[in-house]
Amino acid sequence: MQRFGIVGCGYVGAGVALQARARGFQVTGTTTTPSRLSELCELVDHPRICQAGDPHADYDFLDDLDGLLIAMAPSSMSEQSNYENVFGDAVPCLIDAIRQRKADSSLHVTYLSSAGIYGDKAGQVTGEQTPPDRTDPTNALLAQAEDTVLELNNAAVQTCVLRLGGIYGPGQDIPSYIKSASGHQVSKNGNHVNAWVHLTDIVRGIFFAYDNQLSGIYNLVDDLQLTRRELSNQLCDIEGLAPVIWENHNRDGARIFNARVSNQRLKNLGFKLMVPSMLSPVPA
Ligand SMILES: NC(=O)c1ccc[n+]([C@@H]2O[C@H](COP(=O)([O-])OP(=O)(O)OC[C@H]3O[C@@H](n4cnc5c(N)ncnc54)[C@H](OP(=O)(O)O)[C@@H]3O)[C@@H](O)[C@H]2O)c1
Repeated sequence: MQRFGIVGCGYVGAGVALQARARGFQVTGTTTTPSRLSELCELVDHPRICQAGDPHADYDFLDDLDGLLIAMAPSSMSEQSNYENVFGDAVPCLIDAIRQRKADSSLHVTYLSSAGIYGDKAGQVTGEQTPPDRTDPTNALLAQAEDTVLELNNAAVQTCVLRLGGIYGPGQDIPSYIKSASGHQVSKNGNHVNAWVHLTDIVRGIFFAYDNQLSGIYNLVDDLQLTRRELSNQLCDIEGLAPVIWENHNRDGARIFNARVSNQRLKNLGFKLMVPSMLSPVPA
């Protein structure tokens, strides 16, 4: 039986846990929140409390794994200090623990990062070879965390970074959220292109990486490469709604993401999307 660990059983981690158990894997999953343990008992075989970065964190569960997903995110995305705690401190501590695990059996690690790391590429097509925008402090932190993860690669440990688009799926209904702004002014630049990906394809992409023992960096985004305005116009038109009113400029100090992020590298390896965009129907 294959043994799979998930550090961070949040929105994505929980989806991966369900699929891992459906595959017959023995699953260990973590949360930082003691009150979530009973929920985790339903989801995984071995629930654990693990706050990476805490000097008393117990990383023993890492010893017995064949595959590991790192799906940690700050509890609040609003403050830079939250990003620093997770990506500047917790990720390096977890990577150190993996390096020091007692087992010398092989381990595949998938680390979830963000396609937002590319920053402002003036809407140009952007592949994995395009450097992240390290002038933005958040992106610099995310890029440093990716570097730390990739340094783990050795004969026994294969590490893979998946750069996700903004996540939509059950309970994260981004199309409805966008349509709810119909007729209203939104203080974001409507000319910027963002990247998106459905939860179903994230889960499939994570197992594609594990099954194929991928290493290195891969964009995991859907096919949609529209500006915010183009996307909202299409979503609103379908239902005869008034358009969303976007700005034509950047807010001072706002983190910019404007890139047509390419998923071609994964597709070239045979990965197929189930949900090509939020404009296409989600298969049952
Ligand atoms: N949301 C997006 O649109 C988006 C876009 C691009 C990339 N991503 C990336 O996708 C990944 C998954 O996102 P998600 O939506 O599933 O996040 P989520 O629902 O917020 O879950 C995050 C998980 O990380 C855990 N966690 C936080 N700090 C931790 C620490 N120090 N040590 C161990 N675990 C810790 C949380 O623990 P608790 O269970 O205690 O809360 C939670 O289980 C993240 O890496 C995120 O950066 C997200």
